[in-house]
Amino acid sequence: MDVTEAITTLRSMRRLKPDPVSDELVQKVLEAAIHAASGGNQQAWAFVVVRDAEKKRKIAEWYRDGLRLLFESGYGEPRPGDPAPTPEQEAAGERTRRSAQYLADHMAEAPVLIFACLIGDPSGETRHNARSGSSIYPAVQNLMLAARAEGLGTTLTTIHSFHDDEVKELLGIPSHVLTAAMIPMGWPMGRFGAGPRRPVREVTHIDEWGHPPNW
Ligand SMILES: Cc1cc2nc3c(=O)[nH]c(=O)nc-3n(C[C@H](O)[C@H](O)[C@H](O)COP(=O)(O)O)c2cc1C
Repeated sequence: MDVTEAITTLRSMRRLKPDPVSDELVQKVLEAAIHAASGGNQQAWAFVVVRDAEKKRKIAEWYRDGLRLLFESGYGEPRPGDPAPTPEQEAAGERTRRSAQYLADHMAEAPVLIFACLIGDPSGETRHNARSGSSIYPAVQNLMLAARAEGLGTTLTTIHSFHDDEVKELLGIPSHVLTAAMIPMGWPMGRFGAGPRRPVREVTHIDEWGHPPNW
């Protein structure tokens, strides 16, 4: 598949069939992941592939509880001073919430859950900071694009972090390892397509902040 097509049609596919995904395909998307850039080419990443039904069931339970806590915290609702959402934005938000809930309710049925981890400093002296993610999320995006090219659906999720200690204990992940994302992967029920995005012109500044391009 042409790389531009893969990029522009990569959506969060939260409705997945329980049909199996081969080890060969898992290996293929991980090969794409490990070709990503990382700071100083340290490649301090690790991927935990979860297929075990009981482990998936427990992770799904924690994930569902995490989503409940997130929704209860008012996530996604307009903050004071925000412009009132348009009816289209409201409808899109509602669609995302419904689809996020579906994934949470069916997480255990996904054939594979992949945890993308960043290995930190075992001494604990170097703390993760705002830039830590920049050495793992390029690999996550590569993984998702490779999956897209194979027709596999993925979603970059982080809600497991509400129960991170339990997840790490279950999977034997050491405390200095950051679980940056969990990616459920499987054959999608829906179709891929371009997602709603702000236009390039609106988010680009030429030479100085506030100077839009004239193209
Ligand atoms: C840092 C990050 C964390 C995310 N966490 C979650 C998550 O925990 N659960 C989920 O369902 N989607 C999650 N998403 C997916 C976004 O909701 C999604 O990318 C966004 O709504 C755009 O939709 P699209 O990917 O279908 O174009 C996350 C995305 C990013 C980049």
